[in-house]
Amino acid sequence: MSAIIIDGAVVAERMRTEVAEEAARFTEQYGYPPGLGVVLAGDDPASHQYVRMKRRACEKAGFDSIPHYLPQDASQDEVEEAVSTLNADPRVHGILVQLPLPPHIDEERVLRLVSIDKDADGLHPANIGLLAMKGREPLYTPATPTGCIALLKEVDTQISGANAVVIGRSNIVGMPVALMLIKEDATVTVCHSRTKDMQDIVRKADIVIAAIGKPEFVKGDWLKPGAVVIDVGTNKIDDPEAEKGYRWVGDVEFESASQVARAISKVPGGVGPMTITMLMVNTMKAAWRLAAKEQ
Ligand code: GUN
Repeated sequence: MSAIIIDGAVVAERMRTEVAEEAARFTEQYGYPPGLGVVLAGDDPASHQYVRMKRRACEKAGFDSIPHYLPQDASQDEVEEAVSTLNADPRVHGILVQLPLPPHIDEERVLRLVSIDKDADGLHPANIGLLAMKGREPLYTPATPTGCIALLKEVDTQISGANAVVIGRSNIVGMPVALMLIKEDATVTVCHSRTKDMQDIVRKADIVIAAIGKPEFVKGDWLKPGAVVIDVGTNKIDDPEAEKGYRWVGDVEFESASQVARAISKVPGGVGPMTITMLMVNTMKAAWRLAAKEQ
């Protein structure tokens, strides 16, 4: 194994310590802590687990967290009411609407309702639009893509001028990370389920971001030697030899990829902890902005 293993948990912990120090300074200056408002609708266990981790990390860093938990059959009005309440709550600086929302809820209407000043998850259509425009800057960039870029920089990856391939075009990861890489002056190709000759495209890439949700989809022999690989996938696969009967793997076959790549992120413990940290960084930024506006 020759690749540098990018340990997101270590990077995330370092950044969380810095955010906690900043939160302490903020609280001392204003007399109240930065606050994260959370909307979680439904009973998806993975979403509950993510939100638990996000709230715990925020509280550990000295943030307030203000949750609105709604049932699976919550109406559109009830979800929107929760967002409006958080928009109006002066204790709340950043708002997280955990996705996916139940299928009967119009996600776009909900995300559009989040105050752009409090859009700590960076998923408001206006922030995504600004991210897509040359010479414009969004107030906040989405958490997981921002974590991917931070991990690339952690191993001094030359992004400007690099050929980058993003596998996956989701609204939360694939599309915004492609836009962020373009902003950093990479030449970006987005691959997806209809892409032809994906292996040939990946083989030309200096940077590979895998966010397709398919276990061990990208093989080592697809990679250009020396590529930097960020694996966003977290897939649970059966493994009778594992103590629990399953284990977590990424969208990249780690064993073969780590023989070819210059650096590759861990799964678990790569992008996951960074996503939470970036939400905290954005909420901290929102708190400074909103507090300064009020004065
Ligand atoms: N669901 C899975 N990942 C995310 C994320 O980064 N933000 C939100 N809001 N929902 C998610």
